[in-house]
Amino acid sequence: MTFKMARRLLVCGNWKLHYLAAQSQEIIQKIVSQIGQETKVDKAIAPVATVLWAAHKAISNSSLKLAAQNVYFESKGAFTGEWSVAHLVELGCTYAICGHSERRQFFGETDETVCRKVEACLNGGLTPIACVGESLAERQAGRVEEVVTRQVSAIVKGALSGPHATQLVIAYEPIWAIGTGQTASPEQAQEVHALIRLLLHQQMGDTTAEQVRIVYGGSVKPDNALGLFSKPDIDGGLVGGASLEADSFVALVRSAALAQEQKSL
Ligand code: PGA
Repeated sequence: MTFKMARRLLVCGNWKLHYLAAQSQEIIQKIVSQIGQETKVDKAIAPVATVLWAAHKAISNSSLKLAAQNVYFESKGAFTGEWSVAHLVELGCTYAICGHSERRQFFGETDETVCRKVEACLNGGLTPIACVGESLAERQAGRVEEVVTRQVSAIVKGALSGPHATQLVIAYEPIWAIGTGQTASPEQAQEVHALIRLLLHQQMGDTTAEQVRIVYGGSVKPDNALGLFSKPDIDGGLVGGASLEADSFVALVRSAALAQEQKSL
């Protein structure tokens, strides 16, 4: 038996390696002034780690939240250059992106490290946004299901190690769509999101599977966001390029709010 409920949509801007503190604060203040009263959907910005404290001050008590782009799974010790879940909580973070494809590709992240990061986040009071997605070569070779199943299973293992599994957020980000302007069509994305939802039902049970949010990432823009966010298993977006300007980030939040309204009817 499955349980249907409207999940709260989430739009998270991933600023990657862009903006120093002053510029980050300026853009955040613009966003906050435009969406201050918006309460229908969750929204967050993930600036560069060294900017988090300045960003936290700019956000003050608005409904915009803060996300980290990365986190380490150990809480302390000889791990030069890393920071823990507790450090991010202290800086005012609500979310942490785990296992983004750029971190898998350039910084040696594996399914094993992503699993441990998800577990550490949920145990420490951070909501993990755990990323999965196939490369173009994998899609062309018909391996989408195999790759996504492997990545999702590792994430679920981490999430089920603690008591807060329903808070998990998964981001489906096909690598061929990231930063390329080549968005997955709403139908292509929904197909993979439905597969992920099915895996969650099989591995986490029906009630939890219906609560976990699955957001889409990969060239989401104001003009394609509503089509994507309206799909039944797409619960918002993880957005790079289009989150870098206040106006376009706010437009994405408004599209999410509209999709949320439609889904709640
Ligand atoms: P993009 O990036 O929106 O610029 O494609 C998405 C991401 O990498 O999270």
